[in-house]
Amino acid sequence: MSGEYVPGLEGVPATRSNISFVDGKNGILEYRGIPIEQLAESSTFLETAFLLIFAHLPIKDELLAFEAEILSHRRVKYRIRDMIKSFPEGGRPMVALQACIAALGLFYPISRDMSKEEYAYNSTIRLLSKVPTMVATFHQMRLGNDPIPPRDDLGHAGNFLYMLTGREPDPRAARIFDVCLMLHAEHTVNASTFSALVTASTLADPYTVITSAAGTLSGPLHGGANEEVIRMLKDIGTIERVRPYIEERLARKERIMGVGHRVYKVKDPRAKILQNLAQELFDRFGHSRLYDIALEVERVCDELLGHRGIYPNVDFYSGLVYEKLGIPSDLFTPVFAISRVAGWLAHWHEQLTDNRIFRPSQVYTGTRQVEYTPLSLRS
Ligand code: SDX
Repeated sequence: MSGEYVPGLEGVPATRSNISFVDGKNGILEYRGIPIEQLAESSTFLETAFLLIFAHLPIKDELLAFEAEILSHRRVKYRIRDMIKSFPEGGRPMVALQACIAALGLFYPISRDMSKEEYAYNSTIRLLSKVPTMVATFHQMRLGNDPIPPRDDLGHAGNFLYMLTGREPDPRAARIFDVCLMLHAEHTVNASTFSALVTASTLADPYTVITSAAGTLSGPLHGGANEEVIRMLKDIGTIERVRPYIEERLARKERIMGVGHRVYKVKDPRAKILQNLAQELFDRFGHSRLYDIALEVERVCDELLGHRGIYPNVDFYSGLVYEKLGIPSDLFTPVFAISRVAGWLAHWHEQLTDNRIFRPSQVYTGTRQVEYTPLSLRS
């Protein structure tokens, strides 16, 4: 049975899922039916990861046990640290992260005496706990430093910022980062989650599934956009230059990074929350000139692109928040991966019970029954 070709599979359902729901017309995002605004207000990243992966909000004992498991698995083996140390200092962080995630599959292989459920749980814990450590380890080592060991007295978000910068973060800054991790955790069948589903459908191991997804996330049209937004804001330089810059890019048919979305045709609900977080950070820790430029970019884009349903997406303000938190811009996408591991794992878990290998068809546009031409007769 072969249907018509749909570029980018726009609007084509690739799976059935009850993990998250997006209404692009009304700007709604729900995780297991809970509005993202309520989670951002009252939950934590680890509680949200548990909700996404295990399909219910944990009771107190479940949450404490889950948090304790994550905390106890934050460290990585010295041979993984040695591997990271061998990476070139100028290497692209997302390539380094992909290598690290794939390596987890070498150092934590499927054990024969482990049931499928146990293996699924253990690999979930290891990925959620070790991806932040590997990102921070890569950063410290590329600076020529020894890695900063995790601190058991800091929460998931605060500990990452500590391992990354060597400074204990302000509690409010750590909370803001934890909200950012919640906002980026899951978003139905985006490109990287689709990549995870395809790899999982061949029954590849979870480390390989997450390695595939991380590679897909690294592209500038997907997870790499937040870094491009900061680059764009710095290129623009002043509020006065915003309009001519945007008009020139559009005239050259170039994309404005951080705006537009395959599903949202209004402002991304996550962008609204991130904008408020950015505003709070600048009010507390000092203003950012780039924020003023970003507000003007949003105003001009609303005027020039809004009528086409092109509005700020999750990447538009996230980079401004991360930069204020002391995260280098080339680590913005690895930070996206630290969070989205939860959503990728949730879809991997969900697919384990209802799996069929992905093998779509194609619309063939080539020639048929062509005679082979021997080399001697070719010119
Ligand atoms: C994420 O899918 C997800 O859920 C992703 C994500 C998640 O949580 O996983 O939300 C995270 O990836 C957010 C998106 C980050 N990327 C960017 O900010 C890059 C800039 N945005 C665009 O490249 C674009 O909007 C996409 C890739 C996000 C969506 O592209 P679509 O839906 O395939 O739309 P399209 O490329 O077919 O564009 C439709 C029209 C085109 O004009 P025409 O060729 O028809 O004349 O809209 C134009 C595009 O040129 N357009 C833009 C634009 N986005 C679309 N024009 C200028 N600037 C833009 N940003």
